[in-house]
Amino acid sequence: MPFIELKNITKSFGETKALNGISFKVSKGAIFGLLGPNGAGKTTTINIICCLLKQDSGEITINGIAGDGQDRIGVIPQDISMYDELTVADNLGFFGSVYGSRDLDLRMSRFIELVQLEDKFKSKVGTLSGGQKRRLNLAVGLINDPEIILMDEPTVGIDPQSRNFIFETIVRLKEAGKTIIYTTHYLEEAEKLCDYIAIIDEGIIIKEGTVSELAQFEQEIQLTTDCPQVISTIAASMGAYVNANGQSVKIRTSDAVKVITQLVQKSEGEGYKITGILVRKVSLEEMFLKLTGKRLRE
Ligand SMILES: Nc1ncnc2c1ncn2[C@@H]1O[C@H](COP(=O)(O)OP(=O)(O)OP(=O)(O)O)[C@@H](O)[C@H]1O
Ligand SMILES: [Mg+2]
Repeated sequence: MPFIELKNITKSFGETKALNGISFKVSKGAIFGLLGPNGAGKTTTINIICCLLKQDSGEITINGIAGDGQDRIGVIPQDISMYDELTVADNLGFFGSVYGSRDLDLRMSRFIELVQLEDKFKSKVGTLSGGQKRRLNLAVGLINDPEIILMDEPTVGIDPQSRNFIFETIVRLKEAGKTIIYTTHYLEEAEKLCDYIAIIDEGIIIKEGTVSELAQFEQEIQLTTDCPQVISTIAASMGAYVNANGQSVKIRTSDAVKVITQLVQKSEGEGYKITGILVRKVSLEEMFLKLTGKRLRE
């Protein structure tokens, strides 16, 4: 049974259909990436999972039970909302007390240490740098030590050092057994961090899989041959997408080995020569562009 499951979630804001029937499953202990451009529906999805928003239709289950488990969820929101006039300690104390004051001091020192802001404990939040605020935002979201962590673009607009620091923290959280849903419009982040990726655009999931599954989705074979027409006909008959230009033939397929084997086996019988073969994976960015006609970063 999947740990978290979304079934056919829809959500509209007036005329805008933000989510158009989103379904996905998240395994326990995984880092699940929700990858998509601006306005795709990432934040709406996160807000529905943590019950900040109510879906129009569809169901979310945690461990098979609907409407359960909100207290096990921590959210690191896209928009940082903390009190600039209060100190780091007071902000953490305030948000921490929402979940009860039991062990609060312990939780505060544990998470301030995790995000390495011990020396800023008594500083006003307004005096922190952008990267430090993002790190504190992380600590605030984690203060109730949740089992499920929703992170909405936690690295937007920060320096590379803070970004790496956040990556390392996420890896440590995974090692501690947490289940993480991570939204981003940075492809490299999703590839680097996530066990499983769902690509979202205009409120629907257009493709999903593990990083290697997504990368295998398309390969490009570049062949040089003395007989491009024959090669093109054979490859096209195998369902591949073919583009011939002079002696070079580009073939897009999800099974390069099968196409190459066929072409090489037939080459003797059909009397053509293959003089060069190059295979490359089509990047997720290219795949995304092909599926949606959009770049991820707009
Ligand atoms: N409160 C709201 N009122 C009206 N429209 C909204 C509201 N929240 C979201 N939307 C619309 O719903 C769609 C999805 O928005 P959402 O914030 O979920 O996208 P996103 O993938 O998080 O984008 P971004 O990468 O910019 O954060 C957009 O068209 C947005 O304008
Ligand atoms: Mg968003």
